[in-house]
Amino acid sequence: MTANKYHQERAEIPPPPAGCPVHEGWSPLDDDYLADPYPIAAGLRDEHSVFYAPELGYLVLTDMADIEAAFTDHETFASVNVQDPVFPLASEAQAILAAPDFNPVAVMSNRPEPDHGRIRQYTRRGFSNRRIKTLEPYIRRRSHQLIDAMIDHGSPVEFIESFAFPLPGETVFRFIGFPEGDDEMLKGWCGDRRAFSWGKPTPAEQTEIAEHMLAYWRYCREFTASKREHRGDDLASELIDAHESDPDDLSYREVESIVYGLSFAGHEAVTALICNTLLCLLPRRDIWAEVGTNPALVPNAIEEVLRFNSSQISWRRITTRDTVIGGVEVPAGTAVFLNFASANRQGDIWENPDRFDIHRPNANRHISFGKGVHYCLGAKFAKFETQIVTEIIAERLPSLRLVDGQDLHYFPNITFRGPTELHVAWD
Ligand code: HEM
Repeated sequence: MTANKYHQERAEIPPPPAGCPVHEGWSPLDDDYLADPYPIAAGLRDEHSVFYAPELGYLVLTDMADIEAAFTDHETFASVNVQDPVFPLASEAQAILAAPDFNPVAVMSNRPEPDHGRIRQYTRRGFSNRRIKTLEPYIRRRSHQLIDAMIDHGSPVEFIESFAFPLPGETVFRFIGFPEGDDEMLKGWCGDRRAFSWGKPTPAEQTEIAEHMLAYWRYCREFTASKREHRGDDLASELIDAHESDPDDLSYREVESIVYGLSFAGHEAVTALICNTLLCLLPRRDIWAEVGTNPALVPNAIEEVLRFNSSQISWRRITTRDTVIGGVEVPAGTAVFLNFASANRQGDIWENPDRFDIHRPNANRHISFGKGVHYCLGAKFAKFETQIVTEIIAERLPSLRLVDGQDLHYFPNITFRGPTELHVAWD
């Protein structure tokens, strides 16, 4: 393994820890789990809060206390594996990514301390309230344009293509500083990272994704170089300034790699969160009407969506030393799967956990943004964007509803969850 490589091939999978319960039959890629993970995740937790899933080669934690303990103890539970492909890559994809200039380094979610803390302080500055606020006019203007286009098209529309996919990508691209003319190309390149790191793509799909990743990395490098010449009011310019004022503390390669990593981080999870928000609100007409007349309810409604139907239902870690979790002795080198779908519906934390309730006082106790030193840097950003969008949609299309009888499908992957298509109609 090369130190701090952005994506690592998974090392050989060790056997289950001695004495650990094993669930032969379960995988997060099972069709029934993809369609509705919640009852299955609750059943798993009831049976064994910690177990080994041979299909994945991961130890699975289902209980909030164990998940939080793993997030909090970053020395024992390293995050270096969070961007790695879950399954071995085919040789063609490996060959493409072996290009000598494909050299992004781990900078944020997958970088261990103390470097992670050093780099995060620079990136965190870029996520200041001021910068997030400067994006508000853009998010509003673009939301209205996309709704205008939906109205021009006429009811019904497929909402992801019309709204939920373009908006978050374009917003994070403006945040980073990418030029608007490159949006379509960038969206194409970023989309398939989800399949690469969290899905089970075929060898042919892996080849195509690997080519896109290489093209995207080369684009990020050229973009960073051009920003160096022409700064703007954007994150990339701030990071270049930071590098130039202390090149030994933030390297140029780290700046390029932050640009590479952030565009994915800010993209599909927000698309899915916007869709999951509509999936929760639109069928509950009384709640939709309540939110429409009282926008002050929107922030807590979004916390409840993040708990009840999150766009991220797992994350990963790997143990660096022998430890004990939930009474199971776990050796160093064990890959760990943190099951948010289970923890976010725990009856000892939320009353009636399977009920969607926008008035819950502790809705925001969910684990969907992680915890500890790697806590999602974009959490405020994602919530702010989804809030604005929800308010605008509720105001402009109060009669919006889900098209009856549609079957929802979910892209097969272990972590991100949102429908692949969402058909909506209005009067
Ligand atoms: C609904 C949307 C989102 C969800 C559910 C989500 C979830 C997460 C989770 C679970 C983590 C790992 C936390 C941990 O390991 O403790 C994370 C990390 C991160 N997220 Fe998000 N995220 C979302 C949106 C965003 C956005 C919009 C951005 C940026 C524009 C972003 C940037 C990041 C970054 C940079 C990290 C790594 C932080 C670090 O390692 O210090 N995320 N996110």
